[in-house]
Amino acid sequence: MDKVKTLRCASDKSISHRSAIFSSIAYGTNTIKNYLFAQDTLNTIKAFKKLGVEISIDNGIVSIKGNGKYLKEASDIIDLGNSGTGMRLISAVCAGQNFLSILTGDNSLKNRPMKRIIEPLAQMGATILSRKNFLAPLAIFGKNNLSGIQYNSNIASAQVKSACLIAGLYTDEKVEFSEPHLSRNHTEIMLKQFGVDLTIENRKITLGKNRELHGNFEIDVPADISSCAFVMVMCALKPNCEAIFFDCLVNPTRTGILKVFSDMGVNYEILNKKAMCGEEVADILVRYSPNLNPFYIDGEILPTLIDEIPALSILALFAGKPSILKDAKELRVKESDRIKSIVENLKKLGVSVEEYEDGFKIQPSKKLQKAYIETHFDHRIAMSFSILKALGYSLDLSETKSPNTSYPNFFEHLKYLGS
Ligand code: S3P
Repeated sequence: MDKVKTLRCASDKSISHRSAIFSSIAYGTNTIKNYLFAQDTLNTIKAFKKLGVEISIDNGIVSIKGNGKYLKEASDIIDLGNSGTGMRLISAVCAGQNFLSILTGDNSLKNRPMKRIIEPLAQMGATILSRKNFLAPLAIFGKNNLSGIQYNSNIASAQVKSACLIAGLYTDEKVEFSEPHLSRNHTEIMLKQFGVDLTIENRKITLGKNRELHGNFEIDVPADISSCAFVMVMCALKPNCEAIFFDCLVNPTRTGILKVFSDMGVNYEILNKKAMCGEEVADILVRYSPNLNPFYIDGEILPTLIDEIPALSILALFAGKPSILKDAKELRVKESDRIKSIVENLKKLGVSVEEYEDGFKIQPSKKLQKAYIETHFDHRIAMSFSILKALGYSLDLSETKSPNTSYPNFFEHLKYLGS
């Protein structure tokens, strides 16, 4: 083995968004260390600045002087760029304001489904106008006192769950939310830290009496396991590679990838478990893993690894047998239609792939033909196929800027692991 490499991947995107959103609508001044300085999460900071919140960044530390729940009308349109989390969670904050907010994004975000949040927010009393088929831009005319809601979501989406809980802060009435499978729970964890009462029973969350956020904390954001996934896959595939990935978030609602790594025979170890901002964190050691099993992924594990499927599809090429994905229809409405993006690009490389409505079957293949990869400006598609390029395969990507939305140092880290 080469000398052990060490890396601290990009900070967690979901936790960074929430730390900015909750600090903005809290009473008190919070500082955020290791905030993710990437396009998506910087757009969230810009949005709250437009809504009148005092936010400064000094020496890499974000400082947010919360306004309490009620913000100021923005004098312009709020642009969330590429971020579904930004648009869906901030829509809920706007639903609780007595003024008009207009939210837009890039071409990808303007084509992502917003009905899933418009429906519950409208049911709670917000007026929301959209383009045809509930597409953004959204014009939201909110209310300071919304109505309560008992919402049984038919999709396991942390963004829908968060939108309902955030809007629930703007009512005293009963707010109950349930989902078919457990999705990432950072909103629940962080709301509790800010002093909001909530109870969780199985998959049902009920807001309690105190719905005001208070805090003067230092939030320290761990590394994003969804971003680490790409460089971990690179390490598992690169002969002689051995690397420690520091401070990875290992919240069980996010670690489906580690379960699949174990099933596939990826050689990894969890070291130094600790807690950071109420979340479980660990250093993870990954080693070159030459004998890989295929994966079979379906059912309730999906929300815990939904963003990691593109990276796993690259790992599948090096397994001994075909890998199968099912029940992953949600992938069709991510930053691109990820089932199509993965299948089309693998086919261009000469891989035999079968496309299903809700997944795919990938035949392993270490011999790949030269190809032009269309990323559809989707950061996770660009990062996945870049792994193959870093391993020496001959391919060109339609663009390499999209990783800036979540992992600005990605190419630097990939090069370091490949060196
Ligand atoms: C996220 C939730 C997931 C995930 C996204 C981030 C969040 O989306 O894919 O990257 O921070 O809440 P869905 O809620 O649409 O599943």
